[in-house]
Amino acid sequence: MEGDPELYTARVIEHFKNPRNVGIIPDADGVGTIGDPGCGDFVRFFIQVRADRLKEVSFEICGCPASIATASVLTEMATGKSLREAVAITEEDIVEALSGLPESKVHCSNLGVAALRQAIVDYLQKHKKKKEESKHKA
Ligand code: FES
Repeated sequence: MEGDPELYTARVIEHFKNPRNVGIIPDADGVGTIGDPGCGDFVRFFIQVRADRLKEVSFEICGCPASIATASVLTEMATGKSLREAVAITEEDIVEALSGLPESKVHCSNLGVAALRQAIVDYLQKHKKKKEESKHKA
């Protein structure tokens, strides 16, 4: 099966059937949504940050098997990484981690990457705001 560019690899199928880190982090430090939850495919990433590292990463999704598998493997790749390392994860890294994706499905990995980056931006903005607020209080 692996090696045929038109088929899902065993790793893709495994992540699709048993996606890791699915769900909401209720007290997430950052949230990023790509797509439109109201009318179509979307993915939402939640992150918990401690000492500039991703302590926890989770997601909820409405999408095709490739988008589910890519989001799942991305949570595993990003957990424990520094913010800088996590934003540097690319679609190519994900495709490699899944031992390949059919050419027509490579774009599905964009969703997770974009949502994770947006969650990190969300965290940084909130973090900055908190810092400014505490500066004003002092
Ligand atoms: Fe559009 Fe996979 S997310 S086809």
